[in-house]
Amino acid sequence: MTALAVRRHLTLDVVPDAAAAGRAVAQRIAEQVAARPQSVIGVATGSSAEPVYAALAVLVRDWGLDLGGVLWFALDEYLGLPDGHPQTYREVLRRQLVEPLGLAPDAVHVPDPHGDPDAGAQAYERAIAQAGGIDVQLLGIGANGHLAFNEPGTPFTSRTHVTELTAGTRAANDRFFGHGERTPHRALTQGLGTIAAARSLELVAFGAGKAEALYGAIDGPVDPSCPASLIQRHPCARVTADDAAAALLVV
Ligand code: GLP
Repeated sequence: MTALAVRRHLTLDVVPDAAAAGRAVAQRIAEQVAARPQSVIGVATGSSAEPVYAALAVLVRDWGLDLGGVLWFALDEYLGLPDGHPQTYREVLRRQLVEPLGLAPDAVHVPDPHGDPDAGAQAYERAIAQAGGIDVQLLGIGANGHLAFNEPGTPFTSRTHVTELTAGTRAANDRFFGHGERTPHRALTQGLGTIAAARSLELVAFGAGKAEALYGAIDGPVDPSCPASLIQRHPCARVTADDAAAALLVV
């Protein structure tokens, strides 16, 4: 694994594959929890996060990692899906995180898609604040540089809010839906200001489809046209990528 400090507070690890990335990030989460058992961990949905959850499950099963004191906060949730739909992020996290890691379901918070979504957004911000803020936020990156569901142009100061998904993001996520369904148009998402307030960021990116976005995030200007470029200004951010995703980086 190559670790490079690309900015004073931004570290890049280039790893052979997604499984190696999952192990590295899971190890750092385990160290965080060992140091502070009541840690608050922000979790992402999407294929990039899966190797991290798989590696955490191994640490729980084979190494006795105790996650019983941890609170978990999801980045985002679709609006408009029926309760229990397998692609609601609550259900995705139940399958990928809660069950394999043996977590208490109520330790995992997801933005509430029921009722008034603006009220749900504010309640989510309050819940994060009441938990003491997020210690480690796991992030994937969209092919257009989005973080959570903050599409290009979203202000860096934004907090949890309702967002409209771009056609590209919907098309990218259609692969998770079947039977003639499509990705919903709207979601509740942590804002970029919410994400930036986490004490550390762990961004993972795999495959050539993420290379341009990662280039924009690390080597491009810090600008809302590439939401993930906020990592350059964060005091403690780490990017773990495979060779294909890191291929365009200048460092
Ligand atoms: C999704 C999620 C993001 C995720 C990104 C990349 O739409 N809302 O949190 O990081 O897009 O997804 P994937 O990891 O599946 O490529």
